[in-house]
Parts: sequence; C-alpha cells; structure tokens
Amino acid sequence: MFFKKKRKIDYDLDMTNIPKHIAFIMDGNGRWAKKRKMPRTYGHHEGTKTIRTLALEANRLGVKAMTVYAFSTENFKRDASEVEYIFKLPKEFFNLYLKELMDNDVQIRYIGHLEMAPIETQKIINDAIAQTAQNHGLILTFAFIYGGRDEIIEATKDICEQYKNGHITLEDITEDCFERHLMTKDLPSVDLMVRSSGECRLSNFLLWQLAYAEFVFDETLWPDFDEERLHHAIAIYQGRERRFGGVLK
Ligand code: FPP
Repeated sequence: MFFKKKRKIDYDLDMTNIPKHIAFIMDGNGRWAKKRKMPRTYGHHEGTKTIRTLALEANRLGVKAMTVYAFSTENFKRDASEVEYIFKLPKEFFNLYLKELMDNDVQIRYIGHLEMAPIETQKIINDAIAQTAQNHGLILTFAFIYGGRDEIIEATKDICEQYKNGHITLEDITEDCFERHLMTKDLPSVDLMVRSSGECRLSNFLLWQLAYAEFVFDETLWPDFDEERLHHAIAIYQGRERRFGGVLK
C-alpha cells in the first residue's frame, strides 16, 4: 500500500498579497505516466486530482479565480483515443468532486468551444456550471477546446460586427472594449501564470490576458503538483516587483 507523503508547507505567505487570478498550464501528464510505464491517459486521470487539490487550496487562500488549460484547439492533433479519453474526464471529475466543490462554494465556468465536444461532455460541464452558478467562492474556469489566437479573432469579429452595424465608432475600440469581448470578460486580470513540467512556453494560452501576469515555470509534473508547489509559486509571485510598464519606486 502506497501513502503519498504530505510535504511540509513552510512558505511565509503574505495573506494581503494573494494573487486574485492564477492560470495553470497543466503539463507533464504524459511524462508522469511514462515514468511509471503506464499509458498517457493514466497521467491525465491523475492530473484531474491535482485540479481538485489546487482549487480547494486556492479557495482557502482567498484566490478569486483559477483557470486551467484542459484542452487546447491544437490538442485535436493527438491520437483519437487520447482525445476521447480527455473528453470523458469532466464526467469523472464532477462525479467525484462536484459535491465537495459545492460545499466549498466554488463556481465552475468554462472558456473555449464547448460546442465542439461530445454532447455528453457538454451536458456534464453545463450542469456543473448551472449547479454552482450562485456560489461565491473561487471561480474555477476550464479552458476547454480553447486557443488564445482563436479567442482574439472571435473578439475582433464581434467588434467589427458592432462597428459595421453602427453600434460603435473607431474611437470606442479601446483595450477595455476589447477585453469586454474576450471569453474571460467577467474574470479578474490574471496575476500569476504557472506552467508545470519545466516547459517554458505559452502554447496559445490566454495570450491577451497574460500581458502583465507574472510567470512561474515549475519542473514538477502536473500529477505531482500539490499545495506545497502552489505556495511556492505564490511565494515567488510575492517576491516579484510588479511594475506594469512603470519604473521601480
Ligand atoms: C498536458 O500534458 C495535459 C493535457 C493536454 C490535458 C490536461 C487535462 C487534464 C489534467 C484533465 C482535464 C480535466 C477536466 C475535468 C476537463 P501532456 O499530455 O502534454 O504531458 P506530456 O507533455 O508529458 O506529454
């Protein structure tokens, strides 16, 4: 019988400077499984547990929003069997954890093209969204069939349509206006982006929204990413001087 040893969390976090919105690129599931001579899908299965662990801990710390990159528009290039498996994960995830997330006041949302997922997957996610809509704790957003470039093109098309119909003028097209057309329009700005597994790329994730976010690239493979690594990432964030293009005071 294996027991996962709980690591001691000893980062002295400043509770007045907790990031409002943390975005995660959940990378390394395949490598985690390969190391154990297991199929890649087992890594994805274990990776869903990490989402639960981090959502509960982020919520406890007072983080307002957590967004996880669950499936990119490019992930359709993977083997059909892997894609099919990932599309089944929401059912497993919400069957196991929705009650606990409800009890912790977590609200579920998604960004991306859910309409491209199998009907059953759409239903599971939409049910979780509906059930948690009145919750006021952490907003847990799944980026599912999501691509940052696609999101920017969609926003541009919406704005062009409004301009064409005479609802807005050229002067109305500001950064604020653009943000209101993004899928993340009701979420706070992303303060911290964490990518697991040591890869240092954005992979088409939240391209507009990450303009002023702090980045932490952690070597840990996603299924092993735990509360301690979350605290570590927040501690790094708290050690950074955010200037938003200004100068150090
Ligand atoms: C990247 O690791 C991970 C993914 C493409 C999928 C992540 C999805 C989940 C963890 C589950 C989603 C859950 C719900 C509820 C929607 P990789 O496969 O690219 O890893 P590798 O780089 O080691 O191959």
